[in-house]
Amino acid sequence: EVCVEPSSPQRLSQYACQRRTTTINHNKIFTDAFEVLIEHAEFNENEGRCLAFMRATSVLKSLSGAVRCLWDLEGLPCLGDQTKAVMEDILECGKSSKVQEILSDDKYQALKLFTSVFGVGRKTAEKWYRKGYRTFEEVLADSSISLNKMQKAGFLYYNDILKGLNRAEADVLSQIIEKTVHTIVPDAIVTLTGGFRRGKEYGHDVDFILTTPEQGKQEGLLGCVINKLRYQGILLYHDHQQSTFDFKKLPSWKFEAMDHYEKCFLVLKLKSDLVEVDTRRDDAAERDWRAVRVDLVAPPISHFAFALLGWTGSRQFERDLRRFARHERKMLLDNHALYDKTKKVCLSAKTEEEIFAHLGLEYIAPWERNA
Ligand code: CTP
Ligand code: MN
Ligand code: MN
Ligand code: MN
Repeated sequence: EVCVEPSSPQRLSQYACQRRTTTINHNKIFTDAFEVLIEHAEFNENEGRCLAFMRATSVLKSLSGAVRCLWDLEGLPCLGDQTKAVMEDILECGKSSKVQEILSDDKYQALKLFTSVFGVGRKTAEKWYRKGYRTFEEVLADSSISLNKMQKAGFLYYNDILKGLNRAEADVLSQIIEKTVHTIVPDAIVTLTGGFRRGKEYGHDVDFILTTPEQGKQEGLLGCVINKLRYQGILLYHDHQQSTFDFKKLPSWKFEAMDHYEKCFLVLKLKSDLVEVDTRRDDAAERDWRAVRVDLVAPPISHFAFALLGWTGSRQFERDLRRFARHERKMLLDNHALYDKTKKVCLSAKTEEEIFAHLGLEYIAPWERNA
């Protein structure tokens, strides 16, 4: 049986930033399984295993066809013995025994459930699991557990937030944010970023970058936006983080480090004819809105391109951009800047295209960054 894909003449790069990955995934059966393994490795703080499966997942997402046998994997980067063993299982039996085992694991199930709450991270979830809790009811019944503001909102709007948003709902929200921002700074620039900029149909939130043509005028903008949203009666939760940005600081080494721009994490009421309200909820009959997660970040215009590149994602694309910069170009890249360690200079850029050019990379469009 011949099952080798008509393979591309060029060898696929080990870096996601040198591959074009649309939202069309021909290998979902494998990547869904890997995503369970990644999460399990994350819960167990097994960084190496986590990274190996994330890279393999990303390579499979970039393929132009479905893998039908192990021979199809010949010559592909980032696919080691561990990942191949899981794929072999799936090719033979339609599922992986390792994945099935994890899915039925008591600890995995509890951590998965708890971390699905906005504001609950791995450590908190682990704490609740060790107290013997397996359900939300058990956690909420323990009066010795004090939830922070974010977690309270997370439980209060759990079903709504879990549902996420579709493209049409994200567009309605874009209009609301744009209108609100423009009443404060008429020429402010509002740019949709994150998964929706990559062309995804669904998202767990909507991400926007706000900036102003006049350098520095974005300062204080988010505070005003929050006030206006409150006045409109649609602000359900906000976590406003002030800027800790320093123009002289070199790019960070660490990927997971938060960037230093002023930003806010919001939960808003989305009211629209388009919005589907969860009718299973008791209060659904009385409401014409759904709670949705929105992120706003406000870099100065001088750093807009770096912020846009950083916030467009995907996370794996970002990870590999930085890894490529460091290992292949001796440069440091983060959401703020690009630093050339050889020339000891920061390379400025007005557009994403310029950043790719500085890195000696072919430009990859946002919808090709779904790595
Ligand atoms: N990001 C970041 N700093 C943060 C939060 C997010 O740099 N504090 C970046 C992430 O690297 C990611 C992008 O912003 O690439 C969007 O993050 P997120 O909304 O979590 O993911 P999406 O890709 O938009 O996916 P989803 O549809 O689930 O929202
Ligand atoms: Mn997002
Ligand atoms: Mn996400
Ligand atoms: Mn986000």
